[in-house]
Amino acid sequence: MKLESWLGATILLLLASPAFAQAELLPGDAREGAKLAREVCSACHRVEPEELGTSSAGAPALQDIADDPAVTETALQVFFRMPHANMPNLILTPAETDDAIAYILGLR
Ligand code: HEC
Repeated sequence: MKLESWLGATILLLLASPAFAQAELLPGDAREGAKLAREVCSACHRVEPEELGTSSAGAPALQDIADDPAVTETALQVFFRMPHANMPNLILTPAETDDAIAYILGLR
């Protein structure tokens, strides 16, 4: 096989893979992000897909965050570097931040 056709086939395969399409080229692992969301974020946020609304803790559902077109990967990166409202000790590692972002944006 010629190099060009090999490359073309590889790219087509990647694009056809649902995991690739969902990940939107984000560095994080959405499945790890889902775990983190259920273990940590669910103390205040509704974290499951399709769950909407602000919790009694005053935190918007992760689905609502995902549905906001103004929310981008960059905006979330910046947000997670600042102390979290009501939870200044919520410090995520860079990998956890990437995973959380992959999960949130994967809800789109
Ligand atoms: C102790 C409660 C608490 C926990 C735990 C918590 N959050 Fe929050 N979060 C809030 C509150 C309250 C707000 C709304 C105020 C604000 O924007 O800072 C918020 C806001 C946010 C926002 C910004 C939403 C927006 O549109 O402004 C994001 C993104 C977010 N949280 C993600 C997460 C993730 C991901 C986790 C888990 C790693 C998490 N939060 C854990 C309470 C919490």
